[in-house]
Amino acid sequence: MASFLIVAIDGGAASGKSSTSRALSERFNFLHVDTGSYYRAITAELLRRGLGIEQVDAVKAALPGLDLGTQVEGRSARMQIAGRVVPEAEIRGAEVTAAVSHFAAIPEVRAALLAYQRGQADVARRHGFRGLVMEGRDIGSVIFPNADLRFFLHADPVERARRRALEGRADAIAERDRLDSSRKTAPLTLPPGAIAIDSTHLTLEQVVDTIGATIAEKLG
Ligand code: CDP
Ligand code: CDP
Repeated sequence: MASFLIVAIDGGAASGKSSTSRALSERFNFLHVDTGSYYRAITAELLRRGLGIEQVDAVKAALPGLDLGTQVEGRSARMQIAGRVVPEAEIRGAEVTAAVSHFAAIPEVRAALLAYQRGQADVARRHGFRGLVMEGRDIGSVIFPNADLRFFLHADPVERARRRALEGRADAIAERDRLDSSRKTAPLTLPPGAIAIDSTHLTLEQVVDTIGATIAEKLG
């Protein structure tokens, strides 16, 4: 019987990572960490400082001064930058969505987040959670390659675009997937040994039940 479980969930844009991870965190009392929101928060902060995607040297110089912290709200972790949680409305906005994959492709940006993301397991333990469910693009491949369970969510691009449109959000899903999959450092890829799930024709509940059954078995 595992005492503390680390679950990694990766996949492309709008494949269902956040809704699935949130539901699992409720079901099992895990801390939910949406690492995409971390890349988005850093992107919002860099844009707020007037830095653009082409100013790579200035971005690198800004990274050590970000002073990253974590605030736990319910079962979700939120990134603090210099003591401030960047508001959801800001990190989900069109400007951040268009820029985030460009900043996320800079190896130094990813390096600045590596130890921070691994440290979220300690945050979860300190707050008394039974585990951590962390979602992103490189969680099962780079951040926690030895996670207790690793999942990779697929969904047809047309279905994913339909899901985003239903949310009323502007998003170039195919373009972000292309950037995320083709970058040199920690690209979006199905890592060997991860469990792949195609959710194109599955409801959110069916995906949560499938992953939940595996977690329940592992927890004993
Ligand atoms: O986090 P990610 O971008 O991968 O996806 P999400 O924000 O969890 O899901 C995008 C939208 O698809 C949400 O509105 C979900 O409710 C919906 N969804 C769905 O319709 N069917 C699924 N199997 C999974 C998600
Ligand atoms: O919700 P959605 O799947 O559309 O995107 P997200 O999870 O909010 O991630 C936003 C962007 O952050 C992605 O398109 C990637 O460029 C980047 N990201 C990353 O590079 N590595 C991660 N582990 C998570 C996100």
